[in-house]
Amino acid sequence: MEGLLSIVNQLQKVISLSNVRVSISLPQIVVVGAQSAGKSSVLECIVGKDFLPRGSGIVTRRPLIIQCHHTEEGEYAVFHHCQDRLFDDFNEVRKEIERDTIKEAGNNKGVVSQPIILEIHSPQVIDLTLVDLPGLTKNPVGDQPKNIVSMIEEMALEYIKAEHALILAISPGNNDIANSDALKIARDVDPKGERTLSVITKLDIMDKGTSAINILLGEEYSLKFGHIGVVCRNQEDIKNNVPIADHLEKEADFFRNHPDYQEIQDQTGIPFLTKKLQEILFDHLQKTLPSIKAGIDRQLREREVEAKIYGEPVKGNRDLERNIILKVIREFSRNLEEVLEGKDSSENN
Ligand code: GDP
Ligand code: NA
Ligand code: MG
Repeated sequence: MEGLLSIVNQLQKVISLSNVRVSISLPQIVVVGAQSAGKSSVLECIVGKDFLPRGSGIVTRRPLIIQCHHTEEGEYAVFHHCQDRLFDDFNEVRKEIERDTIKEAGNNKGVVSQPIILEIHSPQVIDLTLVDLPGLTKNPVGDQPKNIVSMIEEMALEYIKAEHALILAISPGNNDIANSDALKIARDVDPKGERTLSVITKLDIMDKGTSAINILLGEEYSLKFGHIGVVCRNQEDIKNNVPIADHLEKEADFFRNHPDYQEIQDQTGIPFLTKKLQEILFDHLQKTLPSIKAGIDRQLREREVEAKIYGEPVKGNRDLERNIILKVIREFSRNLEEVLEGKDSSENN
């Protein structure tokens, strides 16, 4: 598992180097759903850090691309729009997201498609890219233009239509599943549910006497990967800065003590969701590795032909850069081969 994930990380580095046209889509986890369904809350719990603005009404107003990188030591975040500044305080990360959202999308509920790109380097994360999106709505509010509803929908489609996207469809348990915007839009791009994982939030605030057990058992809406019930922090918890670790204990208690969920308690909650995501990602990677490798090989050959046509590189940044990229791609290709051939050390135990 770790071998495969570090391979993806290397590939991300190749792509992030400029001037090379590596046309490979990587698995990204994209959250979709109605406004205030709990998208940002779920993402935060998956990352295990408090860093996202959350709340009722429209809070997430630009796509946020979160690139998590596993490092052995030190924890920091960096934004692509201000790369010189390293953030080690995640409260400051949240403030910077808010600041840059206002800068590009204004102060009154405006939404723009230009993403914020955030890298998180931490010993506590696995190498994953996650995308947080503005929620699907029905009516324009504030300064929003009349076409805001379709604009947000198109923005979401943009991210979830990519074949390599894993869709985390977030539906609040206190609404009927038949009304779920998340499942509707996910089905539009993934009719067979092959890359959709459904998450049911807010199980703690359902009407008295009701539960989502039928949904969680797949009896109401059947999906390949099923539905995972979670409880995230309510607004009061957020106000009181309840740490994620404390909250996860509370969540486990909730499922353990709930008469309907007791029996499936080991298939519910944020920790199970995270585990499931890793499994899906692993399968996905194994399926996509051969085609990624073919793409890299093709690129390599093209680059070599190009190098021959233009002769040996002379001094200059562009040539230097190209050589570096070539070297990184070659190394990547070699590592990939080893993993494909099962030589990965982490798989030998
Ligand atoms: P988003 O708009 O989909 O990103 O939703 P947010 O993550 O911003 O959450 C919207 C509101 O719902 C916040 O006030 C959260 O505290 C609250 N919330 C999210 N998940 C849950 C949950 O599982 N239970 C409860 N009680 N509140 C939740
Ligand atoms: Na919200
Ligand atoms: Mg949000």
